[in-house]
Amino acid sequence: MKNYILADEWKIIEEGFRPELHMISESLFSLGNGRMGQRANFEEAYSGQTLPGNYVAGVYYPDKTRVGWWKNGYPEYFAKVLNAANWIGIDVVLGDDQLDLAKAELKSFRRELNMKEGYLKRTFSAVTSGGIEVAVEAIRFCSLVDDETGAIKYTITPLNYSGPVTITPYIDGDVVNKDSNYDEKFWDEVAKETWDGGGYVQLRTRKTGFEVATGQQFMISQGGTELSAAAQNIEKLKYVASKVTLQAVAGQAIIVTKFAANIASLNYPADALAEVLKTTLKAISKKGFEQMLAEQAAAWAKKWQHNDILIEGDISAQQGIRFNIFQLNQTYTGEDDRLNIGPKGFTGEKYGGSTYWDTEAYCVPFYLATADQKVTRNLLLYRYKQLGKAIENAQLLGFKDGAALYPMVTMDGTECHNEWEITFEEIHRNGAIAHAIFDYVRYTGDEQYLSDYGLEVLIAIARFWAQRVNWSGDKQKYVMLGVTGPNEYENNVNNNWYTNTMATWCLQYAIDVASKVKVREPGKYQELVAKITLNEEVEFARFSDIIAKMYYPADEKLGIFLQQDGYLDKEQILVKDLPASERPLNQKWSWDRILRSCYIKQADVLQGLYFFEYNYDVETIRRNYDFYEPRTVHESSLSPCVHAVIAAKLGDEARAYEFYLRTSRLDLDDYNNDTEDGCHITSMAGTWLAVVQGFGGMRVKNNKLSFDPFLPAKWGSFSFHIGFRGNLLNIKVGKQGVQIKNLSGNALTVTIYGKDQIVQANNWLLVEA
Ligand code: BGC
Repeated sequence: MKNYILADEWKIIEEGFRPELHMISESLFSLGNGRMGQRANFEEAYSGQTLPGNYVAGVYYPDKTRVGWWKNGYPEYFAKVLNAANWIGIDVVLGDDQLDLAKAELKSFRRELNMKEGYLKRTFSAVTSGGIEVAVEAIRFCSLVDDETGAIKYTITPLNYSGPVTITPYIDGDVVNKDSNYDEKFWDEVAKETWDGGGYVQLRTRKTGFEVATGQQFMISQGGTELSAAAQNIEKLKYVASKVTLQAVAGQAIIVTKFAANIASLNYPADALAEVLKTTLKAISKKGFEQMLAEQAAAWAKKWQHNDILIEGDISAQQGIRFNIFQLNQTYTGEDDRLNIGPKGFTGEKYGGSTYWDTEAYCVPFYLATADQKVTRNLLLYRYKQLGKAIENAQLLGFKDGAALYPMVTMDGTECHNEWEITFEEIHRNGAIAHAIFDYVRYTGDEQYLSDYGLEVLIAIARFWAQRVNWSGDKQKYVMLGVTGPNEYENNVNNNWYTNTMATWCLQYAIDVASKVKVREPGKYQELVAKITLNEEVEFARFSDIIAKMYYPADEKLGIFLQQDGYLDKEQILVKDLPASERPLNQKWSWDRILRSCYIKQADVLQGLYFFEYNYDVETIRRNYDFYEPRTVHESSLSPCVHAVIAAKLGDEARAYEFYLRTSRLDLDDYNNDTEDGCHITSMAGTWLAVVQGFGGMRVKNNKLSFDPFLPAKWGSFSFHIGFRGNLLNIKVGKQGVQIKNLSGNALTVTIYGKDQIVQANNWLLVEA
């Protein structure tokens, strides 16, 4: 755990440069706008340890799988979001000294991520090895408004030096992925060009053939006057630059304003990229840096209006929650249904930038409440469009007749994961995808989605479950063998309670939705029946039979559901009795020892009780929570948030707060010692869940929002915004009670502590504590 980020309500601040923490900071101070993003690498040269990272959403490469022992059914490729051309580079040479913070002596250093306005600012003063002292201020952002672009204002002031300085803004596409399986380069050059004050490279990905034109347009001014000195243009393989030599005057600022753009063949024909790029660069440089920055601040202000969480009395909690909300919004804006949310977003390469069940299980509720409903709809459509591939994926594993198994990890719908216990067995992900449809419709009331797209996905998923179970003659029940539940510290188990529960829920939901759609839109329903050759009578009868006769492991004496068959045979030593030196288990123990132990990586039975709490009484939830939490090591970042929500529901406010703390500053304090790989973007949605569903007790019940809040003891108050069916609410939980502000033009009924309250349009009410 680290503790070097300074407390501030709206900023992430690092004061002083510690090279050993630089890779962590590169993750934390990352920038993104949904379409492109980058780690917080330096503009000028840096010869110390760094993980260069620039990413263009949706541009990936299928890297050939590398495994020790091949198994039939393994995917051949792991699709990775590619490290793309570096567009931030500005090389600075003063006299004979290249500016490089790994070599210079630093007198001061500060970086700030301004979350309110969406930019990164770095200031430092440094003395080069030749004794030249400079002060630098660099401001940059990825524009939300012009979302294929970014801009930098780099101000360098030599303090004790007058003489030649060369400044070389460049675009470098000769980049590699750190996690490439065969140390291959993934990009080939297609074209490049330089011109007065700018240039571009156009690169094509091997195999997938995506093309991206990345270009720059820059201007340099000195002492307030724009320089017109001719630049020396440089072109190398996958690289363009313009070298400008000028005479520096001590104390006089030199300002480099650099505009950049990434134009991808995802959005335009490949042969038009160069033209679109030039037009884009012209437009943004005409707009100017200050105007772009002002628009950026306005765009962020608009987002914050709808999704800010305000915590009074705890600055570090405040900073933590805003950081999570900020990063989620930098990663996914919901404009494009071909894009999704990689577990590390644009902040690192781990997990390949691909889509996991994290999106449906954790991120969907966040976007539902904090953004327009089309954002979540696009996340659902992403899966709808990949249904064909999910059916192919199931066929590869031997399933038939339109059964779909969505991949555990994917970019374009093809399975990428290649550990058999996850690829073949962690099938519960299918359930999360169905559950997200349910969640979306419950929240938005958009039943039309079910007829247009949802039902088709639900039937395909239900067909998978119907084929995946088998009848046990011994138990006289349906069973599900050889699975991995959400707890990846168990593999190849029989009858994982969560998976069995998810499966029958999916079967029932598919039947329910089918009967709804049949009544609502009989024509459409019949079209679908024909399209997917649904034999309603036979198939639904089988679904119903499975629902009626599914086996769910349980222990009557303890009154709990069993995570899987035989769980109680394990030696039951609680986590609190494990020596601290043996944690985290995944780093200290052999895999074999982990698999035989009772320790749980992340919520499993409790994940099910979280999703389906309305089906269980509080005492059942409590018994399971009391049993499983003490056996859970929370070695997935997705774990504490679910526990926080359940603890809050059970009235265990102190534990709920404890779990919340573990998620909210997970990256800022580098709890798991892995922030240098990138931030845990998908688990950030879990932090939001901990506040809104945990402390706020928010649920949707009977088409209404319902709140059952409590105020964490350390906080003066907290408040959050919630969008619901076209209305915007602000809920403030304070010492006096709960204040609900209706910021929209319709009266709304909300349920507070179980009682319906009407909040008039543009009005507020207080429910006293
Ligand atoms: C978790 C999975 C999750 C993945 C990506 C793993 O450690 O166990 O549930 O999908 O990380 O976040």
